[in-house]
Amino acid sequence: MDNNKIKKVGVLTSGGDAPGMNAAIRSVVRSCIYNNIIPVGIYRGYKGLVRKNFETMESHSVSKIIQLGGTILKSSRLPEFATDKLLRKMAIDNLREDMIDALVVIGGDGSFRGADLLVKEFGFPVVGIPCTIDNDIYGTDLTIGFDTAINTAMEAIDKIRDTADSHNHLFFVEVMGRDAGFIATHTAIATGAEATIIPEVPTSIENICSYMKTERRKNKTSGIVIVSEGSELGSAVEIASRASQLLPEYKIRVVTLGHIQRGGSPSTRDRVLASMLGNHAVDALIEGKSGIMVGLKGGQISYIPFKEACSRHNPIDPDMLRIAKILSI
Ligand code: F6P
Repeated sequence: MDNNKIKKVGVLTSGGDAPGMNAAIRSVVRSCIYNNIIPVGIYRGYKGLVRKNFETMESHSVSKIIQLGGTILKSSRLPEFATDKLLRKMAIDNLREDMIDALVVIGGDGSFRGADLLVKEFGFPVVGIPCTIDNDIYGTDLTIGFDTAINTAMEAIDKIRDTADSHNHLFFVEVMGRDAGFIATHTAIATGAEATIIPEVPTSIENICSYMKTERRKNKTSGIVIVSEGSELGSAVEIASRASQLLPEYKIRVVTLGHIQRGGSPSTRDRVLASMLGNHAVDALIEGKSGIMVGLKGGQISYIPFKEACSRHNPIDPDMLRIAKILSI
């Protein structure tokens, strides 16, 4: 697209919210204004696109939001957007009716699937910004929200360690991640967890329990097993219930950290990342780029086609797993 043709850009947040989404919205809005582009906020993700829930934004619309968790534009999950062409047609009609020339989608790979179809079916320019606590999007080293989420989980697990130690308890702590073990692996290293169960590495309850028996023999006064959501062994509650039969010597407790990992004020790292990616997303649209996610590779801004970003998950670095294991002995 000719640079001068971009006069109005829509921005939406979609999927699970993540700390730093507001910082990304702020960056997109202010970068648009800097480039004489009118920014339009679209509420509730793709639902707002279909229902035409739009609002023109000013610089002050995004004042004092950089430090806030959640998303001022609200979010929603609409998987049908990627399967129902009629919904996408309604969205495109709404965008065109409002003379919006391009779109920035802040979200995860589920959101990028719908975005990719808008580009392919209607030739509508869309750029994505990777934002999910799961850090599982292929093609970027980091997603917005991950850093805050692992710090939240780490602080919670540090507290659990205090009580576990006082009572010689074994805790199974479930962290989020859907089907990716990034949050689990990072928090396991950061909290010195005794064991980690993630979807990427097959294990068995027997394995984990026999490992915890050897830990007990070392006179450790507490145990923490981090269980990633999506593990093939089940939830932390299910794993703990089966483990309690194999580990009668332990008093076992379970904590599911859940949605507290999605909330809270974003870390410095997430605010800076969101500010950078938001600005480069607008620049990318001005340069005529489309159908891509703006990410970070080796510390540098990179552009990854939606199709590639959605093709698989980032792999877990085996070195991190090795280190987690060595340091827990
Ligand atoms: O993708 C972010 C995430 O928090 C996952 O870690 C989790 O599996 C999922 O969203 C939970 O989604 P919901 O809040 O819709 O249940």
